[in-house]
Amino acid sequence: MDIKINITDRAGVTHEVLAPTDMAMNLMEVVRSYELAPEGTIGICGGMAMCASCQCYVLSNTALPEMSDDEEAMLSEAFDVRENSRLGCQIQMTPDMNGLQVELAPES
Ligand code: FES
Repeated sequence: MDIKINITDRAGVTHEVLAPTDMAMNLMEVVRSYELAPEGTIGICGGMAMCASCQCYVLSNTALPEMSDDEEAMLSEAFDVRENSRLGCQIQMTPDMNGLQVELAPES
C-alpha cells in the first residue's frame, strides 16, 4: 500500500507525497524519488548511516523503529542535530507510518 507523508524541504516548502510500503524503500529514497533535495545533497553514503546527508527532523509523533547503534553514532557527530533528528535512510516505510511528518535538516 501507499502511505501519505509530509516532507518539508530545505527551502521550507512542505510536500505531501505518497510512499510505497511494499518496495523496501526508506525515507531518504522517498525524498530522492520525488527530487525534494538536489542530487548529491542527500543519500551520499547510499544509505549506510555513514554521512548524515539524509538527516531529518521528525515533526509528528509517529512511532518509528528504534535507532541502531550506527545511526546513533552518526548523529552524535553530525551538525544541526536536534532531539527529534533521525537518519532518513534508516527509516523503512511501513503502513503504520501513514501521516508521518518530517523536515529535512540543513545541508552540511
Ligand atoms: S544516506 Fe548517508 S546516512 Fe543516510
